[in-house]
This record gives sequence, structure tokens and C-alpha cells, in this order.
Amino acid sequence: MLRDIEEELLKEVDKMFPNQERGMAEAITIVGIALDKFEALFNSNLKEEREGELRIDRIWAMPNKWTFTIKPIKELLKEEVTEGLWCDPFAGMNSPAQVTNDLNPAMPTTHHLPAIEFLKSLESNSFDGVLYDPPYSPRQVKECYESIAIDGWDKKWDGRTTFWSETMDEVARIIKPNGKLICFGWTSMGGSMSRGFKMQRILLVPHGGRKNDTICTVETKVGVSKTKQSSQTNMTLFEATNTLEVKV
Ligand SMILES: C[S@@+](CC[C@H](N)C(=O)[O-])C[C@H]1O[C@@H](n2cnc3c(N)ncnc32)[C@H](O)[C@@H]1O
Repeated sequence: MLRDIEEELLKEVDKMFPNQERGMAEAITIVGIALDKFEALFNSNLKEEREGELRIDRIWAMPNKWTFTIKPIKELLKEEVTEGLWCDPFAGMNSPAQVTNDLNPAMPTTHHLPAIEFLKSLESNSFDGVLYDPPYSPRQVKECYESIAIDGWDKKWDGRTTFWSETMDEVARIIKPNGKLICFGWTSMGGSMSRGFKMQRILLVPHGGRKNDTICTVETKVGVSKTKQSSQTNMTLFEATNTLEVKV
């Protein structure tokens, strides 16, 4: 790298002072050019490093079934839920999103549908961000369905463990290119690179004892590589982002 700079410098000097003896003035000019070049190189390296960075924080907090009331998670949402239109398919009690859904009709949400039905009704590439805080285990999904005992309620969970991947496919579809996905659960998988997401941030919230951590991930929808896409059966989900490349 330094050799390249030196060669470039010599070319510049030859251009500026052809056939002349190089005195003090020339030497100062050369040092000035060198400093400019070092500064440019340093800034570009720094930028590349920052772009590839994954921020990981670990902050202890008391557990709460309403995830968004847990203090470090509340802080994360304040920082990450920025402008634009946000959607939350499992919104519960405390969602900052504008378009919200919860199976339980007692929740203060704009829709009350099974999340998969709700998500399928939404347009592709239409949200700046999605919050994804589903039940974390098959037992929790089952309990949620069973707890909703109201007149005329005819919905039952089909017990399919594809519940998470199917809802996540829909989530990936409705987020705009460069939109954000914030996930909560017991894994740090998030939307994953195979659906075109790049992870920027992980927040681990341990709750003490043998309780599971709550794991929060923040990702951006950057697109899907064509090679990966062609091996997927649900490739039409990514039509709008297939010009962007991501290494998988
Ligand atoms: C982990 S809680 C979300 C908590 C919320 N983020 C908060 O802090 O208030 C999951 C929510 O998903 C809802 N839910 C469970 N199964 C669902 C389904 N199949 N479709 C839609 N909502 C569902 C539950 O009623 C519950 O409110």
C-alpha cells in the first residue's frame, strides 16, 4: 500500500516540477500531498470497518411477559424504531408500530387475526420496519390459542412447527429494501441472511438463574444473492430485491 502511495507521489512531483531541482518548497508540497493521501486512506478503511461491525450488548433485567416493557429493550426500541411505517404482527400491549395485530381480541391492536393471515394480507415491500416478537415456543403458541375463549371463536393452532419460518417469510416480503427488522426470542437467528437480512446489532438480556435470555436482533433487508435465490422454492418473495447481492 505504501509503495503505491510512493509511486503516485513521484508521479505527482514529476508533473508539478518537470526538469527542476527539488528544494524546500517542493519537499513541503510533497509532504502535504502525502498527508492528504494518508488521511483519505485512513478514512476509507475506517468506513469499511464500521460498515461490517456487529454491535453486541449484554444487559441484565427482570423478565416480563410484555417484552417491550423490559428496560434495556425499551431503550433499544427508542433508538431503533425510527421514522416511517412500522408493522407488528404479534403486538401484544406495548407496540410502537402503527399497523399492529394480535390474535387476542383483548389487545389494543389495529387487527386481530392469526399472524400468518394478517401478514399475507399486506403488500410486498410496504413497511420501513417490522417488530417480530412471537410466542417463543410451541407451548406458548398453543396456550395463546387456548386462552382465547370467546363466543364464536373457531380458531385452533394446527400445531405446525413451521409457524415461525412461515411468518418470517411473510415478514421478509413486506419489508422495503433497506428496511429494518427487529426480532425477539430465544435465538439470535433473526430474519437470517438467506432471506436477505444483514445483522447490525444483538442485545442479550439475561434474567438470572436458569431462565432463558431474551435475545434481540436488529437487521437490515439488503437483498438476496441470485445463487441463493435460485435454490429457494419461495423465490417470488424476493422479486423486488433481487438486484442486490449479499454473500451467503
Ligand atoms: C411475546 S408476546 C408480544 C408482547 C409485546 N411485544 C409486548 O411487549 O407487549 C406475543 C403475542 O403474540 C400473540 N399471539 C400468539 N399467537 C399468535 C398468533 N398465531 N397470531 C397473532 N398473535 C399471536 C399473543 O397474544 C401475545 O400477545
